[in-house]
Amino acid sequence: MEFKKTVYARRSNRFLLNEPLKSEEINYILEIAKRAPVAIGKYENLELLIVKGKTLMTLQNEFVKINGRDNTYGGSTLIVVLHKGENEQLANQDAAIVAEHICLAAADINIGSVYLHSLVDVMNENKFINKELLDIENGYKVMCAVTLGYKANENVRDIEHDIKVKVYD
Ligand SMILES: Cc1cc2nc3c(=O)[nH]c(=O)nc-3n(C[C@H](O)[C@H](O)[C@H](O)COP(=O)(O)O)c2cc1C
Repeated sequence: MEFKKTVYARRSNRFLLNEPLKSEEINYILEIAKRAPVAIGKYENLELLIVKGKTLMTLQNEFVKINGRDNTYGGSTLIVVLHKGENEQLANQDAAIVAEHICLAAADINIGSVYLHSLVDVMNENKFINKELLDIENGYKVMCAVTLGYKANENVRDIEHDIKVKVYD
């Protein structure tokens, strides 16, 4: 798909199917994610968790228990972005740009996605989730995640969001 079409196709889609993604689709998304720029080129600070299958179902049930809803919108794959850098601002920005690459890669192959922050605190605080279920190494923090899945509903259309722009010439 040409770049502009891909960008226009990326909208948060909260109507996702739990049908598993194909491994080549996940690999394509990772291929693009690994081409994101990060601060000072410190890729070793980042780690991506691909959560799917039974582990994702357990995680989704935990979200329902704790938050009263499944923060992943029923997706079939959750990519969690971890960072172990000490500079919180850079960690957030690194994670965000990797997550956006993931969203764009998904759009490029017609897979629905939503960039997620809502699950960050729960994932960092809940020991069952971060230790028992995902075994997140000490020092790494969950910065954000992207839920992915085939689209149950195509009614999310392109929109140009209203961002104020000031020009200095
Ligand atoms: C930093 C960030 C955090 C977000 N967190 C959530 C979230 O926790 N849950 C959610 O449903 N959407 C979340 N979103 C998606 C935004 O709500 C969405 O991108 C925005 O409303 C614009 O809509 P669009 O993605 O369809 O263009 C987040 C987006 C960003 C960039």
